[in-house]
Amino acid sequence: RLIYILNGPNLNLLGHREPDIYGSDTLDDVEAMCAAVAAKAGLEVRLMQSNHEGQLIDWIHEARAEAAGIIINPGAYTHTSIAILDALNAYEGPVLEVHISNVHKRESFRHVSYVSLRAEGVIAGFGVEGYALAVRRMGTLLA
Ligand code: DQA
Repeated sequence: RLIYILNGPNLNLLGHREPDIYGSDTLDDVEAMCAAVAAKAGLEVRLMQSNHEGQLIDWIHEARAEAAGIIINPGAYTHTSIAILDALNAYEGPVLEVHISNVHKRESFRHVSYVSLRAEGVIAGFGVEGYALAVRRMGTLLA
């Protein structure tokens, strides 16, 4: 079964952007790590990234027919996007939210997440390992 791993704005720069906060692994590294964990759970992953809110929403709609679950790091849209929340509310499978950094240790505007109103679970502050943990959890939720 296929799961989507959706990534929002600026995460294309992962590994290069503020490495003190987000680490030095790239999104390609994340994809390879997630694919390995997914294989053990009999899952397949498709990792996508966009800097555009509407594109993320289109992928969430597409997931309705294509994906058994969604793992999403919405980047800064986490804290602003009612539209992404609404799209996820129209999706029936499990949703897990991932943040590389511990958003609760950062600026107060990062403490609020619209997506958390929908997510079955949230991982924050585990670095890129959080994605692998979310894939593992998705395996449990879909078993
Ligand atoms: C982030 C945290 C957000 O506040 C930030 O805007 C990001 C990345 C994280 O993975 O830690 O772009 O979602």
